[in-house]
Amino acid sequence: MNFNLTEEHMMIRDAARDFARTELLPGVIERDNKQEFPNELVRKMGELGFMGIMVDPKYGGSGMDTISYVLIMEELSKIDASASVIVSVNNSLVCYGLEAFGTEEQKQKYLTKLATGEQVGAFCLSEPEAGSDATSQKTTAIDMGDHYVINGTKNWITSGGRADVYLVIAQTDREKGHKGINAFIVERGTPGFDIGPKEDKLGIRGSDTHTLQFNDVKVPKENRIGEDGFGFKFAMKTLSGGRIGIAAQALGIASGAYELALKYSKERKAFGTEICNHQAIAFKLADMHTEITAARHLVMEAACKKDAKENYDMASAMAKLYASKVAMEVTVEAVQVHGGNGFVKEYHVERLMRDAKITQIYEGTSEIQKIVISRGVLRD
Ligand code: CAA
Repeated sequence: MNFNLTEEHMMIRDAARDFARTELLPGVIERDNKQEFPNELVRKMGELGFMGIMVDPKYGGSGMDTISYVLIMEELSKIDASASVIVSVNNSLVCYGLEAFGTEEQKQKYLTKLATGEQVGAFCLSEPEAGSDATSQKTTAIDMGDHYVINGTKNWITSGGRADVYLVIAQTDREKGHKGINAFIVERGTPGFDIGPKEDKLGIRGSDTHTLQFNDVKVPKENRIGEDGFGFKFAMKTLSGGRIGIAAQALGIASGAYELALKYSKERKAFGTEICNHQAIAFKLADMHTEITAARHLVMEAACKKDAKENYDMASAMAKLYASKVAMEVTVEAVQVHGGNGFVKEYHVERLMRDAKITQIYEGTSEIQKIVISRGVLRD
């Protein structure tokens, strides 16, 4: 597999890096403290084409490949993982889901606004009792002929309080198990659809995570995605690509923390020399660099497979499993390299450490990735 970047890839990466440094960095600590959603920055990311990176330009997207997507995700995540998860969910769960499986009418009506960042999307699969066990959907969508009626609760929904368009997974026919699950497009403001409390989170605090309530929410039949009963496969197929985005986010968090630790180690002096000259610190940097390089290979492999239209279910699970582990380990070590300063907000590494943890949880925990990988290994 050839991981050499083209000129265009390098330009896209540099544009994302520049945006992250000039636009995301200045307010990132304040947004984290206040749990503030970056409305204006999302608008700017839309203008740069970051909200619909892989979407066909005929639907308002940037028409780029998955490699470009992971490069953008890595650069944004080095600075602000809250902004990058908004980008990731909008791109790989909502836009991809609609572009790959939606009708032409659904694409014209919803995708065109989501891909430009005019509107923001949310993906609603998780429930109080259906997190990892995603087939156990308690939310119901009863078929009433020309419309469905949705009732239930969704939890931990990224951009939940801010989104305009929600892709909602619900059970229509319990007898049929996962084959009785459907996916729907639900617009913000639909009667009976209420946005519940915002979560007070350990990390990615600038992203907006909510519980959502559906009380007799009427959704027209034309808002169902795919054939009757396609909802669970829709969620699985969409999440496979989403996991590449979260793997790239984890990679970015790790490389952002590593770059800060490397810089700090060349400036901070102890025992008469810069601390990078002490083997205790130099070996940490060596381990970080090695792990990040390995994670990048897995992320790129998954992206290349998706672009080559090969099956990427296992590759995306491996990339997410490994990159999220690396993000956790590297950020902990980056705090250690910074010593007392690592525990202080202005040095950024403590936030990256807090942000890293979610990459081992959302879009499938590390344990779920191991289920996907082990089933693949045993099947092959
Ligand atoms: N593509 C297509 N179909 C798939 C698939 C895939 N990647 N994975 C599974 N399926 C199909 C199976 O083939 C099966 O269909 P058939 O019966 O027709 O063969 C059906 O789906 C059921 O699959 P399983 O029998 O494997 O189902 P399971 O109950 O064992 O669960 C699981 C599989 C992998 C554990 C799944 O439940 C899972 O991924 N759980 C984690 C859910 C998750 O990632 N949640 C994240 C929430 S979203 C989020 O975090 C977004 C955010 O805001 C950041």
